[in-house]
Amino acid sequence: MENFIFHNPVKVLFGKNQIAQINNEVPQDKRVMIVYGGGSVVKTGVLQRVKDALQNDIIFEFGGVEANPHYETLMRAVEIVKSEKIDFLLAVGGGSVIDGTKFISAAAKYQGDAWEIVKSYGNVVQDALPIGCVLTIAATGSEMNNVAVVTKAETKDKLFFGSPYVLPKFSVLEPEITFTLPKNQTANGVVDAFIHILEQYITYPVNAKIPDRIAEGLLNTLKEDGPKALTQPDDYEARANIMWSATMALNGVLSTGVPADWATHMIGQEITGLYGLDHAQTLAIVLPALWTFCKKEKSAKLAQYAARVWDIPVQDELLMAEKAIACTTQFFESMGIKTHLSDYGLGEEIIPIVVAKLEEHGHVNIGENQSITAESAAEILKLAL
Ligand code: NZQ
Ligand code: ZN
Repeated sequence: MENFIFHNPVKVLFGKNQIAQINNEVPQDKRVMIVYGGGSVVKTGVLQRVKDALQNDIIFEFGGVEANPHYETLMRAVEIVKSEKIDFLLAVGGGSVIDGTKFISAAAKYQGDAWEIVKSYGNVVQDALPIGCVLTIAATGSEMNNVAVVTKAETKDKLFFGSPYVLPKFSVLEPEITFTLPKNQTANGVVDAFIHILEQYITYPVNAKIPDRIAEGLLNTLKEDGPKALTQPDDYEARANIMWSATMALNGVLSTGVPADWATHMIGQEITGLYGLDHAQTLAIVLPALWTFCKKEKSAKLAQYAARVWDIPVQDELLMAEKAIACTTQFFESMGIKTHLSDYGLGEEIIPIVVAKLEEHGHVNIGENQSITAESAAEILKLAL
């Protein structure tokens, strides 16, 4: 097991009717801005429940944060935060809204050009406004981590940053809120969370049994309950297990003592930035191709995963790895998420464009062994056609 530091102070309020508690979490003297997305929380009544629960006198609202939040939109919120002296941000939405709120919170306190926050991977952040979250989709884990992904629409740059200053103070997780998700978003969430686990699990063995066993438990849970939520959207138990799995998938626990890959996310991020595919769709395209490309490097962990998650009998390691890749691809397809670029109308012509963006962003020599070069990324994308 490798050395690690683990610190996660996010307070989680999980279960039924947790929104009612937020008045205990948001200090009453704060000037609050509620940040939300394209309007689902207005339609479902979640926004009204949040407003009813808050006891603050001064409440502003900023709606219209798009999926894959745009820097340009978020900077409009930063202006309001500054002019109205907002001192608490409440994100009501999914990963896009929470990530956007993290950016707003850091940018509101940053003196220079706010895009430097993203360009520096968050290193320039030295202060941020406090954030609370009401999560509406189980997917990214943003509700319990310090990462945010922001897109500059003008240049199609989709980039992440991280900072301890943007960790939420608290997050409300009410599984019932996710009953209203459209099928494709339920599937996106399950597949994104599944792949967060795999990015930290399918590398090389370091005998870190705790994160491995937790990863296997979470993967088995998503595999069992993901399809249930698709067929029965109001299955509370399935929604609750999916929600906590997605949070646990990316709150730091699974990265304790293990190497991490994240190359699928790096490549997928460029595809969303350039062509607008949903985050999970890009991951479902890249991951099976990347695993096929790196099968030998990853064979020991792929074989462990094959046995413990897909019940594949012990046999030749490479054969087990191949079966694990096939089962995983089949799982994404069964959730309704297609796994080839051609399924989304994209072909060979995009490969040099995606690779050029990776190079521009310095995202080459990626993966747990830093072995995925620009050339390998091109090969992986060919396998994904
Ligand atoms: O915008 P509204 O109208 O609210 O609709 C949203 C949006 O269209 C809808 N939705 C959310 N909750 C709903 C609902 N519709 C009905 N009922 C509900 N309860 O779902 C759509 C997708 O929402 P979004 O927030 O974009 O989804 P997700 O949570 O998947 O977030 C994706 C973003 O997170 C980033 C992605 O790159 C992407 O930008 N990620 C963030 C990470 C992090 N911070 O740690 C890690 C991830 O790997 C990921 O990169
Ligand atoms: Zn993701």
